[in-house]
Amino acid sequence: MNKELVLVIDFGGQYNQLIARRVRECGVYCEVHPYTLSVEKIREMNPKGIIFTGGPNSVYAEDSPLCDKELLEAGIPILGICYGSQLMAHVLGGKVATAPVSEYGKTEVNINKESKIFEGISSPTICWMSHTDYIEKTPEGFKIIAHTPVCPVAAMEAEERKLYAVQFHPEVMHTQEGTKMISNFLYNVCECSGDWKMDAFVEKTIQEIREKVGNGKALCALSGGVDSSVAAVLLSKAIGNQLTCVFVDHGLLRKNEADEVEEIFGPNGPYNLNFIRVNAQERFYEKLKGVEDPEQKRKIIGEEFIRVFEEEAKKIGAVDFLVQGTIYPDIIESGLGKSAVIKSHHNVGGLPDCVDFKEIIEPLRLLFKDEVRKAGLELGLPEKLVYRQPFPGPGLGVRIIGEVTAEKVRIVQDADAIYREEIEKAGLNRSIGQYFAALTNMRSVGVMGDERTYDYAIVLRAVETSDFMTATSVNLPWEVLERVTTRIVNEVKGVNRVLYDCTGKPPATIELE
Ligand code: XMP
Repeated sequence: MNKELVLVIDFGGQYNQLIARRVRECGVYCEVHPYTLSVEKIREMNPKGIIFTGGPNSVYAEDSPLCDKELLEAGIPILGICYGSQLMAHVLGGKVATAPVSEYGKTEVNINKESKIFEGISSPTICWMSHTDYIEKTPEGFKIIAHTPVCPVAAMEAEERKLYAVQFHPEVMHTQEGTKMISNFLYNVCECSGDWKMDAFVEKTIQEIREKVGNGKALCALSGGVDSSVAAVLLSKAIGNQLTCVFVDHGLLRKNEADEVEEIFGPNGPYNLNFIRVNAQERFYEKLKGVEDPEQKRKIIGEEFIRVFEEEAKKIGAVDFLVQGTIYPDIIESGLGKSAVIKSHHNVGGLPDCVDFKEIIEPLRLLFKDEVRKAGLELGLPEKLVYRQPFPGPGLGVRIIGEVTAEKVRIVQDADAIYREEIEKAGLNRSIGQYFAALTNMRSVGVMGDERTYDYAIVLRAVETSDFMTATSVNLPWEVLERVTTRIVNEVKGVNRVLYDCTGKPPATIELE
């Protein structure tokens, strides 16, 4: 088990989990805790270092989240980021004020290369700034180690006391040498040895699940996607036969997918997951009849899912825990905390209020997709499954714009199967982040064999993304697009037009709904 721990103390910033992720990328185990965690508790946890996050408040405003001065004097190395840096200055007697000029975006920062956190960093270096307040005067004993033309204290340190503060955000990609700065803090200041790897996470999580579940029974919502498959196998390693996996065919899966999932996870496959397949297509189509609003569709599918699980759970009897493969981006985009609601992700926003289980277990809720894949490999899942195309919980329900019908599902399934087949034939499947066909709600006029047609338009999507929070459209070879178009129009009844989506995220999202 890992011994080294770094704490990220959350003051309400947007990038808190990103900070945690960067720390883990540097090979150090890390946990995010609210700023209300007491100094006593922190001492008990014995962290190698602490990072204060950013946050939306002004440190001098009433009711702002603060920290105990005692924590800053505890001898634990601390790195304050943005609000966290201002907080350090404020609590230790410096002055924080509204900056005459706010800085937002990529900014050239001049740094003092002699500082331990700037070892190997170039000066000036491009950093991401996002602040309206700034440190006007450093607390006694602090040295300024970075500045910009309008921000006199872009970073400060009290080397002996192991206190560091940066006004910019080293955790975001736009800070070009940010990960190196975080690594410098961890290794040069906190003196970490870097003992955390995915195997430790897997081991720790298995242990925690065992303790939590005890002799109870758990039910896992298995979709066959990477996230729920990793969650299921993790649970199965932890509690063996106490786990039952329910796979719901909601009639919104890709072509032949239900059978493929059964092949891998069913009784004839390599895993022992107490696999139950529920064929619930009709039930979902019935609920979705006449519903056009994307959020309502997501909620209906999510709720119906839970109802099916509850029924299965009742058949098994005394199921205490529901296991879900929710990952971190699902949580932020569903608007928990202070972020805005973009979409109600299946496993989060779609949950009905009254769930019949004692507790929900989401072992992957703090991981990003690439980390989930690493965990999957660690658990021995086959690469083919681990690198599978992501597929949303509400399935084709969010790839059919407007009302869902069995006929539309058939159209999008057939078109998508052709698209995937051609992408694979062209050898592009491993290099594209995510690609799929969707069905627009638009019909237009065409001509086929001298006959007028009035049919649907299919939209093809292919995006490149590293974390699914942002994405860019892929420049697919024209021959591939042409071949896919010809095949879809010829082979899929009900389609007479094929479009390619060139939009990135933002402003669009990856899925169409
Ligand atoms: P969006 O459309 O939000 O998609 O840009 C980002 C990534 O998340 C997947 N996605 C979902 N995954 N439940 C899921 O498990 C959902 O409700 C859901 N909606 C979108 C999407 O396929 C993409 O990979």
